[in-house]
Amino acid sequence: MNLTQERTERVDVLLQAMSRDEKLLQLQVTFRMDAEENAAFARAGIGALFWPMSAAATNELQRVACTESAHGIPLLIGLDVIHGQRTIFPIPLAQACAFDPSVALLDGQVSGAEARSGGVNWAFSPMIDVSRDARWGRVCEGFGEDALLNSVYGAAKVRGFQGTALSSTSQVAACAKHFVAYGAAEGGRDYNTVDMSERRLRDAFLKPFHAAVEAGAASVMASFNTVSGVPVHANRHLLTEVLKAEWGFSGVVVGDADGVANLIAHGVASDRGDARRQSFAAGLDIEMGMDLDAAALVEDLTALDDERLDDAVRRVLNLKMALGLFDNPYVDEASELLEPSDATLEAAYSAAVRSAVLLRNDGTLPLRADTRRVLVTGPYAESTDHLGAWVQRWAEAPASLADVLGRKLQGADVTVIAGTGFFDSAAPDSSGIAAAASAADLVIVAVGEPSNLSGEAASRADIRLPGQQEALIHAIAESGTPFVVVVCSGRPLVVADWCHKPNAILQAWHLGSRAPEAIADLLLGTANPAGRLAMGFPRSVGQLPMHYDHENTGRPASSGGRLSPDSMDVTIDGPANVADHYTSKYRDLQLGPEFEFGHGLSYSTFEHDLHLASSDRVRLEDLKNGEQVRIDAIVRNTSATDGDEVLLVFIRDLVASAAQPVRRLVAFTRTAVAGGAAQPVQLEFGFDALSFWKDDGAGFRVEPGEFRVFAGPRPDALQEFALTVVA
Ligand code: BGC
Repeated sequence: MNLTQERTERVDVLLQAMSRDEKLLQLQVTFRMDAEENAAFARAGIGALFWPMSAAATNELQRVACTESAHGIPLLIGLDVIHGQRTIFPIPLAQACAFDPSVALLDGQVSGAEARSGGVNWAFSPMIDVSRDARWGRVCEGFGEDALLNSVYGAAKVRGFQGTALSSTSQVAACAKHFVAYGAAEGGRDYNTVDMSERRLRDAFLKPFHAAVEAGAASVMASFNTVSGVPVHANRHLLTEVLKAEWGFSGVVVGDADGVANLIAHGVASDRGDARRQSFAAGLDIEMGMDLDAAALVEDLTALDDERLDDAVRRVLNLKMALGLFDNPYVDEASELLEPSDATLEAAYSAAVRSAVLLRNDGTLPLRADTRRVLVTGPYAESTDHLGAWVQRWAEAPASLADVLGRKLQGADVTVIAGTGFFDSAAPDSSGIAAAASAADLVIVAVGEPSNLSGEAASRADIRLPGQQEALIHAIAESGTPFVVVVCSGRPLVVADWCHKPNAILQAWHLGSRAPEAIADLLLGTANPAGRLAMGFPRSVGQLPMHYDHENTGRPASSGGRLSPDSMDVTIDGPANVADHYTSKYRDLQLGPEFEFGHGLSYSTFEHDLHLASSDRVRLEDLKNGEQVRIDAIVRNTSATDGDEVLLVFIRDLVASAAQPVRRLVAFTRTAVAGGAAQPVQLEFGFDALSFWKDDGAGFRVEPGEFRVFAGPRPDALQEFALTVVA
């Protein structure tokens, strides 16, 4: 944290004046919501509290801290501002599907300003956990399965929150979380064990955190999980050696809620004192917990050495100094932003439109202007549950999709029948539904997962549509009327049982304050989808965890499995005689995901004149000195419809001293191209993109040799180029 000389000296003076007990209290954030308890903590000199829900209440706490505590140190006021404060943006997973980090930047700017106006100065966001298992409920909070997407989006969100000066009245300190590998919980079950090689940590899970630190993230939150047996809250290697020493992180490391106390349940600490000693010694700077007993705290941490203690306190005070709290801890109550403005709602709308993904379309979408009779059915027809998980409880729900469609389709006859609820156990009235569908020209089936099924402690073992929603889709399909399925969910779902039946599928996630307008406009064609999946849809839950950037294995399969026995006798003919039998696949599944990472359609059609603009031979030395490999494209919109086009660039290192992914995303862009027009696009990547980690002490390296570069709009439409890195 860069502070002026004068501010650094102020921190020094304060540190010298503080007793050991006073210092320890600065290293605590509690989440009790009772006003009197909070005031007592502030008076005692606690370092941080959770937001007490208004500017006035926050000012009062700051007043107590600054005028009634021993040293008058202002408070950090923390809150989970995950995808909005008053204006709710799409869930982060949806934002990632925009393949446009300006969406996260804008979310950070808008929600940071709304939060700070009410006194929040520390947002526990962004979550940048690479997520490869859709069973895990928290996939909705992060930016999907890819390390680069999480890195670029995380850095954008940090910049949105923090701007150029944390002391500005519209910025908050960001918190990159959860450090690290929380998304790799075994079986996708929240809080579960993580056992992972250093190589995989470095090549995937740590990368977004490094990017967030480089972007200046003021804080990092330790994750609940173990990494190879050592809980992160007690993991000196990760918190101190990697984050602080190797990366030079000078901000604050905060624990997750009761993550220190949880060391006891993990079975690595004998009691709370032991847990605290281990955590702070490992590099934690602030403990987050429910209960705080100041006397016990002092006793617990008598053994913490002075140098470590002062380092932690200095980090906390530096952050407060950078936030300008020592100069003015108060916010202007009259300026508290209590509701969204037209401009912020417009920003949320544009983010929502950009985030949806058109998974399938035979031309039924956009809806034809002369569609007369429309049936809108499914639990999301009338539900207003569009804000998503981890949303502020005071945020206002939008209208329903049925309401908005009714308004927008004024010339049409719109019938709304729920058909089934989210969790019904009784089968829907198939004949009634089929009759209603037969009487319509088009059916819109709005299905999904209500938002309480994703988020923290919301892992699912079966990630199909809950209740009888699949039966509803089948009943509609039986009618023979063209139909479109809109899926609102906080995770990729298993849709194998029905996804080949609809004429079109729009994956709408939970798109926030303006979700229904965005969905309606995308259906009607007043908005044009361009999102791409930031996380693939598995064919079966049995494929999970799943990620597009997997290694090839020694026996890659080229076709899916079948249950019927192969005609062979292994004992006589030997195992290698049956093509594609002894290969890496499931006997009861086709290969690959249902919808792959990067998949997404548009109403426009595009041609791409792509070529490798830089030389197909690049010297390792030049790469080390910052030389970039460049792909140039002319993106031509060959339709009359204005649209955005996403271009993706992947690489594969063909022969390396450690097995490499079959494809790894190294660059992407999203470009608006008017109907009939063309736009030049450039994509670049360099040393970092071509490098990988090896545990031999030398860290990241690029090995000379042959690479393949794949570039194009979707994984099934990639052009291939050869690239050689010469020694
Ligand atoms: C979550 C964090 C969150 C914290 C504070 C925890 O349960 O894991 O992501 O920031 O609570 O609300």
